[in-house]
Amino acid sequence: MDSIELTAAYVKQVLEGAEGGHDWWHIYRVWQTARTIAAKEQADLLVVELAALLHDIADSKFHAGDEEVGPQRAGEFLKSISVSNSIIHHVQQIIRHMSFKASLGDVDFHSKELEIVQDADRLDAIGAIGIARAFSYGGFKQREFYNPHIAPNLNMSKEEYKNSSAPTINHFYEKLLLLKDKMNTLTGRELAANRHRFLELYLEQFYAEWEGKR
Ligand code: ADP
Ligand code: NI
Repeated sequence: MDSIELTAAYVKQVLEGAEGGHDWWHIYRVWQTARTIAAKEQADLLVVELAALLHDIADSKFHAGDEEVGPQRAGEFLKSISVSNSIIHHVQQIIRHMSFKASLGDVDFHSKELEIVQDADRLDAIGAIGIARAFSYGGFKQREFYNPHIAPNLNMSKEEYKNSSAPTINHFYEKLLLLKDKMNTLTGRELAANRHRFLELYLEQFYAEWEGKR
């Protein structure tokens, strides 16, 4: 097995029983999307694939906010399969910077490979898959999926957002429809445009059906 196959097998095993939004299949989709983007951009494909595979192995939400658990574990694993130090370091930097906070490490870190994996991760929150993830999350939190009397709130603080029990459709306006403008790469933007159109089409059909039209 090559280092990609070994890493995929490792991640699959680590994520055994993980919650739906960040299970192995989320990693699988981000990995494939990252490959699609990398094929059209100038980037080190090995770094892109390893970072995509390892980006969610230790969600800091479940490790008392310790943002270093993920990069640390990824580094130990990659060392155990004899990946070179420079690649390990780059993959660790990407994992650190994937979270929105990116409060640790070199805040000025940028690389094409980071841009690609970040785009792929965000793309998994829009389009048909994004819709499935949003309703799956909303169901888990026992939220209404829609309530015409509760308007989306575009000015929530992080804290309010986390504690909000707003209907799932609101999440489309508060986050999902904003993601297409956060893409880093040209190829990511193209994929996002398609997935964004699908969200809009979905919402149009949703409201029509809600009122018994169509
Ligand atoms: P990330 O791993 O990108 O930080 P989150 O953990 O915030 O993402 O969310 C994982 C998935 O759950 C995403 O698809 C996201 O759209 C969805 N999600 C997060 N918050 C909500 C919400 N309030 N309502 C519906 N879906 C949500
Ligand atoms: Ni992710």
